[in-house]
Amino acid sequence: MPVCLGVYSDNRGLLLMLEPKRESVLEAKDMSEESRCSGIDLAWDDSHVMPEVITPEVEFMFRKMTEVFFSEIGAKPGVLVLDVGCGRGLDGVRMSQEGASVVGVEPSDIMLRHARDYMRESGTSIALVRAIGEYLPFRSACVDKVVCKGALDHFADPARVLEEMARVLKVGGRAVIVVANFESLGFKIGRAVYSLWKSLSTERVSFKMPWEIPDDHTYRFDYRLLKRMVSQCFTVEKVKGISLLFGLPWWGAFLSRCPAKLAQTILALLDKIARRLPWLSDVVLVSCTRRT
Ligand SMILES: C[S@@+](CC[C@H](N)C(=O)[O-])C[C@H]1O[C@@H](n2cnc3c(N)ncnc32)[C@H](O)[C@@H]1O
Repeated sequence: MPVCLGVYSDNRGLLLMLEPKRESVLEAKDMSEESRCSGIDLAWDDSHVMPEVITPEVEFMFRKMTEVFFSEIGAKPGVLVLDVGCGRGLDGVRMSQEGASVVGVEPSDIMLRHARDYMRESGTSIALVRAIGEYLPFRSACVDKVVCKGALDHFADPARVLEEMARVLKVGGRAVIVVANFESLGFKIGRAVYSLWKSLSTERVSFKMPWEIPDDHTYRFDYRLLKRMVSQCFTVEKVKGISLLFGLPWWGAFLSRCPAKLAQTILALLDKIARRLPWLSDVVLVSCTRRT
């Protein structure tokens, strides 16, 4: 049974295209269904996600991630895209502005509120459904594209979400999944340097290192795990690495001191290398099709 905790959009016509059982999409609360969401933060907020000081490599990584993601999706008129874990709906709104019809799935009330605010500000609307990726409230084979950016490692059961993403995708449709690589070259070097420093110094740090799993992550993905898990449900067609050396000790401080143009040139060069060596890159994008 699908889990739908509510519908937050006027775009009911679009939603009805996805789910023939009108009542299961459009009726809001059913506590037995809500209990399936146990362990899922229904009030997750992203206010802590971006660091207070944005150094050049952080800005570059997020910008490139969005750029490469959009180049893979092919959002255009006539295409119906489902965005699982859509957060503030920034990507959904942009896909809609590029002409696609977009449905965003998101369990957090707070993120849905942000998404509605953003839709109002941008003057663009997408359909928003409050649901979890583990039980998508849509019929099988109903969307052209399904995307999931920076969210797989937040899910209670990522393997189950991938199964659901494959189920709702039409044959011949495309799934685009993007996630952070915790076995990147930057993190490997960072871990090694930090463990050497710890063995030589009595000083202790109180903050989390970038390669440590954030508290709100449920999974620790790397290139190999992502590819293995995705391959259970999809045929993987392309894997792309994005950005290189995030997390390298003193990297942000070094780049901040460089002239801006030089910093961007270094980061762009490393990004080109990352594209060919996804297992070492900071972020991994997988583009795949549904298995027939
Ligand atoms: C880091 S945010 C990414 C948001 C967006 N995709 C982006 O790139 O900006 C992860 C999102 O996944 C959502 N999420 C967590 N568990 C989920 C689940 N089981 N099903 C669907 N979304 C979930 C969170 O509420 C959060 O908004």
